[in-house]
Amino acid sequence: MAAGATRIVLATRNEDKAREIEAVLSSEMPGVPLQLLSLRDFPHIGEVEETGDSFEENAVKKAKFTAKETGLICLADDSGLEVDAIGGLPGVKSARFASQNGRNSDDAENRKKVLRFLEGVDHSKRTARFRCVIALATPEGIVKVKEGIVEGYITEGERGLNGFGYDPIFLYPPSGKTFAEMSPDEKNTVSHRGRALRAMIPEILEVVRQGRSDSENPRRVTAGN
Ligand code: IMP
Repeated sequence: MAAGATRIVLATRNEDKAREIEAVLSSEMPGVPLQLLSLRDFPHIGEVEETGDSFEENAVKKAKFTAKETGLICLADDSGLEVDAIGGLPGVKSARFASQNGRNSDDAENRKKVLRFLEGVDHSKRTARFRCVIALATPEGIVKVKEGIVEGYITEGERGLNGFGYDPIFLYPPSGKTFAEMSPDEKNTVSHRGRALRAMIPEILEVVRQGRSDSENPRRVTAGN
């Protein structure tokens, strides 16, 4: 780590998401001394329940809680897939779409459930989008929110081995590939997460700059103030 690097904690236990966020931040902010941490580095911090009705609500809740618990600048992502033919499902329930009887579902079960719902639905009606909301929170109470969306189609079967979650069934029309057929860099260039993060870069630079000037000029409370 560079001396004086600013520490930013990513409020996720999802390693795939953390990898994508790290890749985008390091390519978009070269030369900015950052040390990226994740919740792995803070095993004592409990789980934030994602009970909100929107990605924004969940992302802001995770970011504020984690910034408060760690005393560090925090970035939180809440994201998922919205399929038009089934009224926008799985949406905020993307991670647990096929859960049953209190048992959490895995990615393969979730994908299977989406494909089952869309059986017999024509390609033109298989429109879907990934949506990602990134929230930035500081221990001082600053909160910023950015959203990224990518439009595509649900395939009829799984294609590709890269990525995670719904990537093998999400077709990105301009490339003719599913997200799971793209390299990590290709996906990050067009993905919902890449777009939300790139929109957040100016805000990240601002809080990093602010933190630095605070530490260079610590506020002194003098007698009489
Ligand atoms: P979260 O941890 O509640 O935000 O859950 C997000 C869920 O949405 C993940 O478990 C995935 O199933 C899905 N998801 C979000 N982003 C992606 C992506 O980039 N590719 C594939 N699936 C995603």
